Amino acid sequence: MSNKMWGGRFTSSPDAIMEDINASIDFDRHLYRQDIAASKAHAEMLAKQGIIAADDAKKIAHGLDTILSEIESGKFDFKRALEDIHMNVESRLAELIGAPAGRLHTARSRNDQVATDFRLWVRDSIDALDKALADYQRALAEKALEHAAAVMPGFTHLQTAQPVTFGHHLLAYVEMVARDRGRFADARKRLNESPLGSGALAGTSFDLDRDMTARALGFDRPSANSLDAVSDRDFVMETLAAASIASIHLSRLAEEIVIWASPLTGLVKLSDKFTTGSSMMPQKRNPDAAELVRAKAGRIVGALQGLLIVMKGLPLAYAKDMQEDKEGAMDALSALSLSIAAMTGMVRDMEPDIARMKKAAAEGYATATDLADWLVRVLKMPFRDAHHATGRIVAKAAEQGVPLHRLALEKMREIEPRIGEDVFTVLSVDRSVKSRVSYGGTAPRNVRAQAKKWLRKLEKDKS
Ligand code: ARG
Repeated sequence: MSNKMWGGRFTSSPDAIMEDINASIDFDRHLYRQDIAASKAHAEMLAKQGIIAADDAKKIAHGLDTILSEIESGKFDFKRALEDIHMNVESRLAELIGAPAGRLHTARSRNDQVATDFRLWVRDSIDALDKALADYQRALAEKALEHAAAVMPGFTHLQTAQPVTFGHHLLAYVEMVARDRGRFADARKRLNESPLGSGALAGTSFDLDRDMTARALGFDRPSANSLDAVSDRDFVMETLAAASIASIHLSRLAEEIVIWASPLTGLVKLSDKFTTGSSMMPQKRNPDAAELVRAKAGRIVGALQGLLIVMKGLPLAYAKDMQEDKEGAMDALSALSLSIAAMTGMVRDMEPDIARMKKAAAEGYATATDLADWLVRVLKMPFRDAHHATGRIVAKAAEQGVPLHRLALEKMREIEPRIGEDVFTVLSVDRSVKSRVSYGGTAPRNVRAQAKKWLRKLEKDKS
């Protein structure tokens, strides 16, 4: 039997392989809510424009509501032979309400339908991701406030560089997430145009009210070019680009957590909730959640690459290639959502080992810059000379096997005779971080102010 929905000119049914490669119902069933909402908006508009009878529109809306509850209660029978969500819904509608169902597809194609559904789906996903990211920011800012004065080693090249505070380090990620949210918000703004009414590619001869359907679905306006509306997937690419960058940011903190939780550094303790044991080595506590967040960036970036390549060189307008936009995007956005949730949990639960952090901050001559700055400020040395003298003092301390603040004053004086006792006031890690009061710097009072500012802003955005 040929396909009921489009098989008028066909005499036999598709090969089983054709059905396998063609069907998208296994993944586009996730669009059911958006598909039904768009169909309801379309039918209501057709009735208002006198294109279908008001009575038919009512039956259609009623039938669609029934289908929605069938799907949500798991009673709906999805059929692969019906290819996709659009035809599964329409075919069930015909079973439920009979002839009027055949009027729903007036002045509509699956091409504008899928473009509409997927825009709505991506928009909903962005809204959910934004909430999750805000929650993650809150977890980071709360931890940062709690540990605004906890000194840890700051690294460049993963070599001890200068002391920073744990709070300052966490707030760096709050800033990154703010830009991630901005990228999603930008993508959302651009995608929020309604393709519905573009037809297969050329528009339609029916007198539609496209503003009405756009409004009903929460779009800002109808799309201005029917060819563009049905054939671009830049809204998915852009969202995946934002997701990729967000996942890269998550992977960086995930990697740091792996490093911090390793006994080699021992800077943080992870909770039982976000670690696992080893089946062989009883002593192990593995940071699996962090490792998986680090890894999931791979498939998220992979989905972006995949879709970019699907779209490359594709002539206008719709081509079935575009059906391949969904699986990768759905997988990527759910991987991102899971990653954000896992990071939020880990950040809430992790406990820095404050004493260990402070000790590590004092290792590796982390206050050498403070010494050089002291030479500049107190002895009026040019910075380059101060840098050189400090280097020689560090070498001497290394020779003696002591940290800078334990090096005897006379040893320092062998290199710079004008150094006085008060030099020791700048050599402790606490003094060092306290002195970094420049805007954006690591001083605990800056960190406290920034953390509070973020928490206030996040609270305000909620209401
Ligand atoms: N399942 C299709 C997709 O996701 C729907 C559009 C099909 N249109 C068509 N002319 N075959 O792209």
